[in-house]
Amino acid sequence: MKNSCGALRASDEEKAVELAGWVNVRRDHGGLIFVDLRDRDGITQVVFAPDRASFSEAERLRHEDVIRVRGSVRRRPAGTENSKLPTGEIEVAVDELEVLNRSAVPPFQVNKDDDVDENLRMQYRYLDLRRGPLQHNLMLRHRIVKAMRDFFDERTFIEIETPMLIKSTPEGARDFLVPSRLHPGSFYALPQSPQLLKQILMIAGFGRYMQITRCMRDEDSRADRQTEFTQLDVELSFCTQEEVIEVMESCMRYVWKAALGVELPAFPRLSHAQAIATYGSDKPDLRFGLELQRVDEVFAQTEFAIFKSVLSADGAIIALRYPGGAALSRRDFDALVETAKQNGAKGMVWVALAPDGVKSSASKFIDESAVAKLREKAQAETGDAILLFADATDAALAVAGKMRNEVAERAGLRDPKTFAFAWITDFPLFEVDEATGKPAPSHHPFTAPADDQWTLLESDPFLMRAQHYDMVLNGYELGSGSIRIHKAEYQRKIFAMLGLSPEQVEDRFGFFLRALDYGAPPHGGMALGIDRIVMVAVGDANIRDVIAFPKNQLMRDVMMDAPSPVPEQLVRDLSLRIAPPKP
Ligand code: AMO
Repeated sequence: MKNSCGALRASDEEKAVELAGWVNVRRDHGGLIFVDLRDRDGITQVVFAPDRASFSEAERLRHEDVIRVRGSVRRRPAGTENSKLPTGEIEVAVDELEVLNRSAVPPFQVNKDDDVDENLRMQYRYLDLRRGPLQHNLMLRHRIVKAMRDFFDERTFIEIETPMLIKSTPEGARDFLVPSRLHPGSFYALPQSPQLLKQILMIAGFGRYMQITRCMRDEDSRADRQTEFTQLDVELSFCTQEEVIEVMESCMRYVWKAALGVELPAFPRLSHAQAIATYGSDKPDLRFGLELQRVDEVFAQTEFAIFKSVLSADGAIIALRYPGGAALSRRDFDALVETAKQNGAKGMVWVALAPDGVKSSASKFIDESAVAKLREKAQAETGDAILLFADATDAALAVAGKMRNEVAERAGLRDPKTFAFAWITDFPLFEVDEATGKPAPSHHPFTAPADDQWTLLESDPFLMRAQHYDMVLNGYELGSGSIRIHKAEYQRKIFAMLGLSPEQVEDRFGFFLRALDYGAPPHGGMALGIDRIVMVAVGDANIRDVIAFPKNQLMRDVMMDAPSPVPEQLVRDLSLRIAPPKP
């Protein structure tokens, strides 16, 4: 029976074993050949002696060749143990070697975790996947997903698969379309999420549903986004917002315990308005404080033109403490102003509370008493800096929120081993669509407003609050959910409010509205992004490192070379014609 390369210990001494794997390293030393043999469980040192038939074959072994060896376990000679390896007390003295396959020279070293260009890593993904970090990430991903399934199974949820070829479900991104051969001119959409199908499963009486499922959104890739990603999708009937929150929070606590051995405390809760006012973000990183402070009144009488004009236009001046920031040079501050501008700031004023005196980019306008007030408001100490952002209130808060993360990163406050979960609640039901200026759903159009707020729909839609909650972790949105509208009449009102004509509503959502008509129970749910969960759990900021076969930043699979042109006949079979490229 084949043994694992990670399992043998001193207690296995003298055992006859068989190992198979890849040549991690070959060393020729003192007349012997040592090979570190690697499989997914670990590395075991195997030794070839010159008096064995296998010796000459072993001399030709190279990095990444695939071999099988038979031999016996023995203790390494005293002083040659390797305490860094779990198998480091033993080695296998080889009697037989079988070379199962040779490897071409790899384009990068598999046995070292050096930095290699990411596109090269992705082109040779199978080699990158052999390396420690990705092996670790995917194994952790497996444990996390398994824990999720165990948790929901224990709570009597059932997993139901929903189709990949569907009609569009709007989640705010562009659909991927699949042309139908049998119905020329018609298209399926790939699911942006199973939202409508899981709601229909509630109407069908399943009551407690979960699914670990792939979602596809035709949007740009980012550090925390892929076009194809995986959700833990959940829906419950006859539930309140509190019940959904309880289930999802318990799930994450269970997962963190089972997969990472970490006990999580209860998740703090913030209203959307509180999160924006305190952290300038609806997904605040709560591993550190650095709360934003509104300091308008410090500058009520200012002659500083920019501040003055912002305040007279009812804008805001927001202060952010930068711990240790007084040590920055003027040049460093100039660079920080540029970073703020890249994050949308019109400008940034800094005040450095240096031990040898206060310095500022607007020293003419910030006198001693202003400094004292700022220091108190921002709870800053000598050695810190205070950064000031003036703009329309939402814009000033948004920039200060982004700079808060930047400052925390520089000050070393974003510890990847700390997990700061939180709930954000009481979202507005609508936000302003930037393109049209009209109301657009802040989540999706199936979200129910807070109780008794339907009366505001015509008069004051932007005042409406939603029964919508987000789970955030370390500055990432892990998931969103809501209590749904379960009456067709109200769902129609929302569609009308969003400017859809009755014909458009029938065409896009007729099937769903009919389903709501046949006894839809009150229901609600949530979806968490599994890729993001694993990304934060491994302490890594790149979503591509927790997915076996991700797309690159240009949405390409560089290993398979997709997307790619297809034979013309295939296109014709689909009754499609490719337009010439745009000039
Ligand atoms: P939402 O669109 O907020 O809600 O998605 C839920 C979670 O899915 C993850 N996610 C992504 N992860 C990686 N790449 C992406 N492009 C991407 N887009 C989303 C995020 C996000 O928080 N149907 C609703 C849920 C519900 O109401 O039940 C939905 O899909 O972690």
